[in-house]
Amino acid sequence: MPAHIQLLEPADSVRKSVSTKLALANRAKLGQYMTPAPIARFMSSLFPPSTLQTCVLLDAGAGVGSLSSAFLDRWAMQDGFLFQQADVETYEIDPHLRNHLAEALTTYAEHLPIRWNINSQDFIEAAALQIMAPKRYTHAILNPPYKKIDSRSSHRIVLRKAGIETVNLYSAFVALSLALMKHGGHMVAILPRSFCNGPYYRPFREYILQHAALHHLHLFTSRTKAFQEDGVLQENVIIHLECGGEQGSVTVSHSTDDTFSDLISQEHPFSRIVFPQDSEKFIHVPTSSEHTAIELSKNVRATLSSLGITVSTGPIVDFRLLEHIQTSPKPHTVPLLYPGHFREQRLCWPKDGIKHGNAICMNASTKKWLYPNGFYTVVRRFSSKEEKRRIVASVVRPDAFPGNDYLGFENHLNVFHIDKHGLPEAIAYGLAAYLNTSAVDEAFRRFNGHTQVNATDLRNMLYPDQSALRELGEWARGQASFAQTMTDQQVRKLIQ
Ligand SMILES: C[S@@+](CC[C@H](N)C(=O)[O-])C[C@H]1O[C@@H](n2cnc3c(N)ncnc32)[C@H](O)[C@@H]1O
Repeated sequence: MPAHIQLLEPADSVRKSVSTKLALANRAKLGQYMTPAPIARFMSSLFPPSTLQTCVLLDAGAGVGSLSSAFLDRWAMQDGFLFQQADVETYEIDPHLRNHLAEALTTYAEHLPIRWNINSQDFIEAAALQIMAPKRYTHAILNPPYKKIDSRSSHRIVLRKAGIETVNLYSAFVALSLALMKHGGHMVAILPRSFCNGPYYRPFREYILQHAALHHLHLFTSRTKAFQEDGVLQENVIIHLECGGEQGSVTVSHSTDDTFSDLISQEHPFSRIVFPQDSEKFIHVPTSSEHTAIELSKNVRATLSSLGITVSTGPIVDFRLLEHIQTSPKPHTVPLLYPGHFREQRLCWPKDGIKHGNAICMNASTKKWLYPNGFYTVVRRFSSKEEKRRIVASVVRPDAFPGNDYLGFENHLNVFHIDKHGLPEAIAYGLAAYLNTSAVDEAFRRFNGHTQVNATDLRNMLYPDQSALRELGEWARGQASFAQTMTDQQVRKLIQ
């Protein structure tokens, strides 16, 4: 029977002092954002009780050992773990952190029947070599490094050979750890929320949902607070997966920050989390058990493709076409539209003092990127955190650019079009009005944790049908100015 010890608190002081000393460059390079003790403790509490004799624990990218410490503390406190023995396998690439990790594990070994090992190898390379070997791990607890994997890097090559297609170290760590786990093994990991709906994470979502059951999702609703000491600005989620487990309902919990003082938790059917027909396999994090008005509406069932409309990222990537961009319109140029040309819902073009430009030369190099002048609905890709709504849509009217046959849409805008041509006027207005409603905003926030609005996100949403969009558009076109409550009311009539 293990002794009553709790070493997470001392490990946490080590974490704090080490974190402040970590070289900033290394931090970014190795994704060194350490887990504060309350989060580590919460993560360890998500493992189900276990009657296993021997636990084989994986802590990949272990830092100073905060997560292993929280896991071992739970065992030591006899809180549901009845192991007789534990093998703790850690990976840590940074020699400085390995010293602290060794100290922590040595102390645990004085009190608990554990064997431990610290691997100094790169986890991706080591794990990829082991995935064909017999599965070892019964438990894994992870706060993996976050860093983009370059498409030509050795990591990408190793991963591809192992059959794992992914774009960030954190998703690679989770996929590889799952591949090393025994059937019925449990993993708890803290990850940026981006994998839930980022377009590049689709293979990763498919991989985890195919190999494991998702039992718990915890969302920190404050972007700034979970890793505030480290200045990490993103929403984080904690997931509990069971390797090869049967998918049942999912517990979804929320807390503002790592004090967990306002923790709320609810069960949801899995079909609420990953919609059955969704080929993108978006992972939704419902904020309540109620469905959004949009999800409930029988009148919002059209897909963009059924409407014959496409949404694309603005095709003008300005740094590739710099030599053709002009501050002001001249003969042989056409208007170039940036997000800066839209304020609230209004277009202001040309704009004095705009940083980038107002026009682009029309010539053999640029013509293929231009659209004929017409009505378009545009949505900025990056909203600021202060902005009330994430989706900010505006209408581009052809009469704003008299004498111009073509328009350029810059890459920070999403553009709705029909086969690279304009939309019918009423549809352009109807789409913008619909996208600017609070109901759409609410539905969007359920599955999108960041301020970026990708064309894929817009493509995967549901829309009112043609006639409803037209009707809405006729109404919106007649409005002198944009008023949130009036738009909401108008759309509410439509979607009821
Ligand atoms: C986000 S930190 C988390 C540390 C620890 N798990 C915690 O929760 O406090 C990720 C850790 O992974 C380590 N790391 C980064 N790349 C690695 C790699 N390829 N193999 C093994 N460890 C790595 C970093 O040095 C860092 O300590």
